[in-house]
Formats: sequence, C-alpha cells, structure tokens
Amino acid sequence: MKIQGYPNPGAGLRLHLNENTGGCSPRVLEAIQRLSTADIASYPDYTEVVLACARHFGVDPEWLLLTNGLDEGILMAAVGHISRARLHDAETIVPLPAFDPYPNSSAAAGATIVRVPPAADLAFPTDGVLAAITPRTKMIFLNTPNNPTGRLIPLADLRRIAEAAPQAVVLIDEAYIEFGGESFLPELPRYPNVLLGRTFSKAYGLAGMRVGVVIGQAQALDPVRAVTPPFTLNAVAIAAIHAALQDTEFLPRYAAQVRESRERLYEACRRLGLQCWESAANYVLVRVPGDPAPFVAALAARRIHVRDRTKDAITPGCLRITTGLPEHTTAAIEALESAAAQGTVR
Ligand SMILES: Cc1ncc(COP(=O)(O)O)c(C=O)c1O
Repeated sequence: MKIQGYPNPGAGLRLHLNENTGGCSPRVLEAIQRLSTADIASYPDYTEVVLACARHFGVDPEWLLLTNGLDEGILMAAVGHISRARLHDAETIVPLPAFDPYPNSSAAAGATIVRVPPAADLAFPTDGVLAAITPRTKMIFLNTPNNPTGRLIPLADLRRIAEAAPQAVVLIDEAYIEFGGESFLPELPRYPNVLLGRTFSKAYGLAGMRVGVVIGQAQALDPVRAVTPPFTLNAVAIAAIHAALQDTEFLPRYAAQVRESRERLYEACRRLGLQCWESAANYVLVRVPGDPAPFVAALAARRIHVRDRTKDAITPGCLRITTGLPEHTTAAIEALESAAAQGTVR
C-alpha cells in the first residue's frame, strides 16, 4: 500500500538508500534488550552519550550536538542560521548534484538557493562555488564524499571555500567519510564558521535509529543548538550509540566489505561497457547507455531497489547502487548483466 509522503519500495534488496546492507552490530540489539521500563519512561539524559561521542570524534563535548538523524541537523542548521536570525535576503549555495535536504532546508528557512552546476565529469565545482559567494551568502552546503557521485572534495578546496565566506556557515556533510577520504575534523579548530555533519546511519548501520552529529565551534553550533528540540534523540538510540562505539571491530570489517563491493561493481561496469564513477562512499553511480528502462526493470524484477536518477538533468541515465555486503553487490551485478544480455547495451 502506498501512502502519500511515506515511500515504500516493498520487499526486496534495499540498495537505494545507502544503508548498511549487513545490519548493525549485534551488540546494539543486546544493549537495547537490556533497557529497563524506567529507561523508556524517562526523558533521556544525554551527558554520557555526548561524552562518548566527543571522545570518539576527538572534540570538546561543547562542540557536539546530537540530532535525530543528520537530516534534522541539516534542517536545524538552516533554521538556526537563517530563519531564526530573520535574514530576509539570505542565500544558500548548493553545488549539484546535491542531497535533497540542502535545497529543501534552505527553502524552509526562507533562503534563496543558488545552485552551482558540476564541473566536467561531475567533478566538484570549486571555482563555481567561489564565484557564487556574495555578501548575502549565509550557508554553503558541501558534501564529501558526494551523494550521488561518491567523489571527494579535496581538503584544500574545503579550506578555500571556508576562508572565502567568513560571513557564512559552511556545512561539510561527511555522512559517508568512514568509507573513504580524509575528514575535515582535524581542521575544525581553525574554522569557526564550519559545521561538520556526521551520521550513525551508514557505516554503523543505525539508519532506523536516527542518529546524526553536528560538530562545530560555538559561533556555528550555538544557533543550531538553540532551535533543536531538547529531547530529540530517544533512549533506545542512545543505548545503540554506546554499543555501536564499543564494537570497534564492526566498522573496519564493513568498510573492507564495501571496498570489495565497489571493486566488483567497477569491474562489472567495465565488462558491460557501463560508465561509472570511482566512489569513496558505500555506493556507485552507474550510467546506462540508451534507454535505462530495461536496467531498471531487470533490477525491479529481482526485487533489487536502486536509486533511479535517470530523469535528473544532472545525472541522466544514472542509477545509484549501494555497495554493501559483496553478495548483495553480486545480486545487483547479475541483474545488470541480464539487462545487458538482452541487447540493451550498445
Ligand atoms: C549526504 C547525506 N547527508 C545526510 C544524510 C542523512 O543521514 P541521516 O540518516 O543521519 O539523517 C544522508 C542520508 O542518505 C546523506 O546521503
């Protein structure tokens, strides 16, 4: 059954939302089972979990805000910095292709969205972003690795943009950084106008728990904190975070599986003559030549859900495929092969 506003692909292999296809650490489930009725009946106390996260990220606890998924962190950043500040002529810069919540949150906060098209071959448009900065620029959304291309923004370019817009908050969304690339985290002390976004949804497999992290200095973080609901994370999610952080073997093991999956998919694309982009994340953007419908149909027939970006003018003919456990990637490759075998690849 389809309900407006609640997308539901139905049963099948979920390779469309870049979740952890292997699930979360079993320790998370054990921790949740240990919760008491009183834990559930009480508003949560966040002290211990904020300290644990601050230790994990190596930052001052005052620099860290937990949100109900990074989605909420992105919205609260826009609301805190733009609508609460009553900035009526604010602009936000959104380099394309972009994660939808950047323009959506900008619009919700009442900002004018300045979209910057990608450079050649979907590369990050550093010069375009620098050229788009004006005195009205109040937020810049940077995403590394980028969703959906998987491409990284060089640290030097992140620095240049942050330095070129001291009047703006630069939100660097590192939702997928655990799968590849260098975090901007060590640079943060030098950039009071930067907010870093992280999530437990992807590498830690906690998408269903909704845990995001926004990290930054007071100048950037306080306006976000001011508008974030006080008990936005629930008690179950807090137990999950503690357990996820304690299972130190989980993340390296899964990141290695993701790397193997990516390699398998690149190799299949080469074999099948499909263009794809090298990704630092847990997904790969694949372009199918000609009519993409047979590919979408071949995947759907096997109940493999992928993100169909074929109609997006920035990514025409492209599918974004999550690369999680290697056996799941193999299932997607078999579907691509069957579509190609039907003579659809030219
Ligand atoms: C680039 C990017 N940022 C943020 C998020 C949101 O993550 P969360 O599940 O923590 O809301 C996603 C989720 O797909 C994403 O792709």
